Amino acid sequence: MATIALRHVTKRYHHTPSVDDISLDIAQGELVAFVGPSGCGKTTTLRMIAGLTDVTSGSILFDGRDVSDLPTYRRNTGIVFQGYALFPHMTVAENVAFGLQMRRVRGTAMAERVNDALAMVRLEDYAHRLPREMSGGQQQRVALARAIAIKPDALLLDEPLSALDAKLRQEVRDEIRRLQRSLGLTTVFVTHDQEEAVSIADRIVVMNAGKIEQVGSPQEVYEKPATRFVAQFIGLSNFLSGEVEAPGRFRIRGGGLLTYGDGKVNGGRQDLIVRPEKIELGAKPDQGLNHLEGVIDSVTYLGPLTEVRVRLASGEKLVAHRQNRRLGELETFQPGQPTTIAWAPEAGFVL
Ligand SMILES: Nc1ncnc2c1ncn2[C@@H]1O[C@H](COP(=O)(O)OP(=O)(O)O)[C@@H](O)[C@H]1O
Ligand SMILES: [Mg+2]
Repeated sequence: MATIALRHVTKRYHHTPSVDDISLDIAQGELVAFVGPSGCGKTTTLRMIAGLTDVTSGSILFDGRDVSDLPTYRRNTGIVFQGYALFPHMTVAENVAFGLQMRRVRGTAMAERVNDALAMVRLEDYAHRLPREMSGGQQQRVALARAIAIKPDALLLDEPLSALDAKLRQEVRDEIRRLQRSLGLTTVFVTHDQEEAVSIADRIVVMNAGKIEQVGSPQEVYEKPATRFVAQFIGLSNFLSGEVEAPGRFRIRGGGLLTYGDGKVNGGRQDLIVRPEKIELGAKPDQGLNHLEGVIDSVTYLGPLTEVRVRLASGEKLVAHRQNRRLGELETFQPGQPTTIAWAPEAGFVL
């Protein structure tokens, strides 16, 4: 397994770069998820790491060695794409063997490697099936077996779960995570789905318009977003407009004074950001908490939780999420009713 380093990597197809001067170090055995909206440059980045696309400038290093000019077949990466990309006329075993044949592995050595790889994705009994005789999730596990059979220096996955339905997506995600951990595979996982990125990655790279917005653990990126874009893209955020009066003191539009834990201290027009699950509804005023009054605007039942929109005196709306712990609690919230909202100062921040 290898470390991967990106040094000022840029890709330019048009006037504006698709990938714009990104640098990153990926540790051996680490799973890094690139996440961002469609068109932000995730696939282009992955393809440059794989050697399927040339860099316009900058360099890519595997274990400190510059591979920027090496063709794909000399980089030894295992690649899995969204569509299973299995050869339809070949059996599962032949599909898995394909990369090995290219690397001149033959005979019993090859049979063993194929069998081992299929065992790793728990499909050893399916070796003689054709791809069309298998479910989408199984096909994607075959693609995974094919990628790891070559003992790659890095595993590169581009939206590997996007073609699967929700239940299978979770299953294959867990399978990827289990394999990646047990084999210690250095892995780049590309997805547009922030929940997927948060649930699978050691570290998340949030991309926007060809640039890196933030790199951090899932918890860092969620709890301490570095930019407004990240706060909006990873999970849901409420933005309350107002002004920073002094470090930690925030005056909202319409009057009330709030306190916050983290972030910017210079004054001026700002937004205070707070996540929906941090907001408590109907709480009595408590000295330690931020406290506002409002009117319930809408109530949406979402299964495990209920989303309540509250309109403040200023006209701004905040979203609060409540866990549905007990049956019947929902009826206590009705649109049009006055309510209070509260949250701990450290749950809010200003960028
Ligand atoms: N082969 C190509 N030729 C021209 N433009 C491309 C090519 N591949 C990607 N792009 C452009 O580069 C940008 C980033 O694309 P891509 O990396 O596929 O984004 P993502 O995977 O994040 O959705 C887009 O604007 C896309 O249109
Ligand atoms: Mg893509």
